Amino acid sequence: MIEPKEFLNFLKSRRSIRAFQDKPIPEKEIEMILEAGRWTPSASNRQPWQFIVIKNKDTLKKIARATGYGWFIAEAPIAIAIIGKIRTSHKWYIIDTSLVSMNMMLMAWSLGIGTCWIGSINKDKAKKILELGDNDYLLTVLPFGYIRGNIPELTYRNPLNKIIKEI
Ligand SMILES: Cc1cc2nc3c(=O)[nH]c(=O)nc-3n(C[C@H](O)[C@H](O)[C@H](O)COP(=O)(O)O)c2cc1C
Repeated sequence: MIEPKEFLNFLKSRRSIRAFQDKPIPEKEIEMILEAGRWTPSASNRQPWQFIVIKNKDTLKKIARATGYGWFIAEAPIAIAIIGKIRTSHKWYIIDTSLVSMNMMLMAWSLGIGTCWIGSINKDKAKKILELGDNDYLLTVLPFGYIRGNIPELTYRNPLNKIIKEI
């Protein structure tokens, strides 16, 4: 088990990273990120997902062009598209794959690899680029890469007393 305070500090230390070095990520580390995704909990353990590892530079550029605020995908050495398999778990595929994304982001951070959730993406365009079908829900495309420049400042969170209610 991880020491709890250390774990909380680790969670607090994560940042969204939007600038990447032009440096490949070793296969072993990509595999660890994928493994973290594989070991995500899911409703009834249906595991309604598929992960597409995008290494092709042209594809990364095309996906970047399909985003609004996600151009930095183009400079990442890899990206992983997280796909929800709709018919495998039609009620839970979005929640299950969202949890996958968090597991992957935290695994990456522990490896010193940055990423950022991209919500601002034209999903129809991106689905075409990735040759996805009707049963495929494109949750997001996460770029992964070693951090270029400084780690961004801590982002604000509402204090606990604003978001909790005791009954
Ligand atoms: C559902 C979701 C969608 C997001 N979409 C984008 C996006 O399209 N582009 C982007 O640069 N960041 C995006 N982000 C990152 C958030 O802006 C970021 O997590 C937030 O500002 C807090 O910063 P932090 O992750 O560094 O703590 C998204 C995050 C989430 C959870």
